[in-house]
Amino acid sequence: MSAGAPPPLATPLTELVGVRHPIVQTGMGWVAGPRLVSAAADAGALGILASATMTPVQLRSAIREVKSRTDRPFGVNLRADAGDAAERVGIIVSERVRVASFALAPSKKLIARLKDAGVVVIPSIGARRHAEKVASWGADAVVVQGGEGGGHTGNVATTVLLPQVVDAVDIPVIAAGGFFDGRGLVAALTYGAAGIAMGTRFLLTSDSTVPRTVQARYLEAAVNDITVTTKVDGLPHRMLRSELVEALERSGRTAALLTAVRHAASFRKLSGLSWPQLLRDGLAMKKNGRELSWSQVLLAANTPMLLKASMVDGRTDLGVMASGQVAGLIEDLPSCAELIDRIMAEAHRTLADLPR
Ligand SMILES: Cc1cc2nc3c(=O)[nH]c(=O)nc-3n(C[C@H](O)[C@H](O)[C@H](O)COP(=O)(O)O)c2cc1C
Repeated sequence: MSAGAPPPLATPLTELVGVRHPIVQTGMGWVAGPRLVSAAADAGALGILASATMTPVQLRSAIREVKSRTDRPFGVNLRADAGDAAERVGIIVSERVRVASFALAPSKKLIARLKDAGVVVIPSIGARRHAEKVASWGADAVVVQGGEGGGHTGNVATTVLLPQVVDAVDIPVIAAGGFFDGRGLVAALTYGAAGIAMGTRFLLTSDSTVPRTVQARYLEAAVNDITVTTKVDGLPHRMLRSELVEALERSGRTAALLTAVRHAASFRKLSGLSWPQLLRDGLAMKKNGRELSWSQVLLAANTPMLLKASMVDGRTDLGVMASGQVAGLIEDLPSCAELIDRIMAEAHRTLADLPR
């Protein structure tokens, strides 16, 4: 937090996880590493480490690195359907991480294990029935992502999904999808949310490790340059429209499948997963009620490799640049501290200026 920082806004989220401001930096594969997470935590937000693209050994060392950089609470995001989810939960518990965040609904058993160990459980969901399910299983809060959000996303806008979920569950609801400023924070609180979660806005900070050339592509993008495609892994995925996305949209099934097999092979090598484990993860996605074909199961391994190509290697031509529509409104790269201070100052001004 910088000197002269605006006062905090206490909400059920700040009380639940012990952060100063009701703002979450979400777990984004290859993006939310120790540097971004600790900068967000130091600025008074809840930083969440992305672990789906790390091996368990890398996860433990990333957690330790965050701890060496900050003594503030933080979280770890993991795939609930990953074959090694139980091992990752074990690491979260033994390293005494404050929050477990899940892409997709975790099982009742995983929630119970984490809660028994005193870890706060916050799944991310995109539909009311999923929020109801995880709330009934004991989740402490939910992140609700509307369709304008980056990465895998649904088609219901935040303005519709958020009040629907707030009315359906009695745990704190954190709004995600389309947030970037203090007005948005106040709007979310007005809907009954306990805070906001932002992905794209944190990707576009000076604390983010995403190469500057890639960040420049996001800053240049207009709202209509951000699209949803199912061609990367069979699921609706929001990203910057690029030459790669256009080529994938044009490519036939066989070409897409061949690429997918190649990417699956590289991800397998990088992640240390065996083919049976990789296929088990793919099958778990099928079981999760997603209508995926076998070719789509293989395509699922596309996402991590294509995301890495841009987020780590800086290949805007070869990689996927997952993005919320909000990239079209963002024009600068503040530090996390500057960003949080700016959002909180604007939130206080907005509250003071509301018509009475
Ligand atoms: C580059 C990128 C990578 C992402 N990776 C993940 C992920 O690994 N796990 C996850 O639960 N959500 C992931 N997301 C979704 C974000 O966590 C978050 O819910 C979303 O960005 C919110 O919408 P916003 O971009 O409008 O702020 C990703 C989003 C982006 C932009």
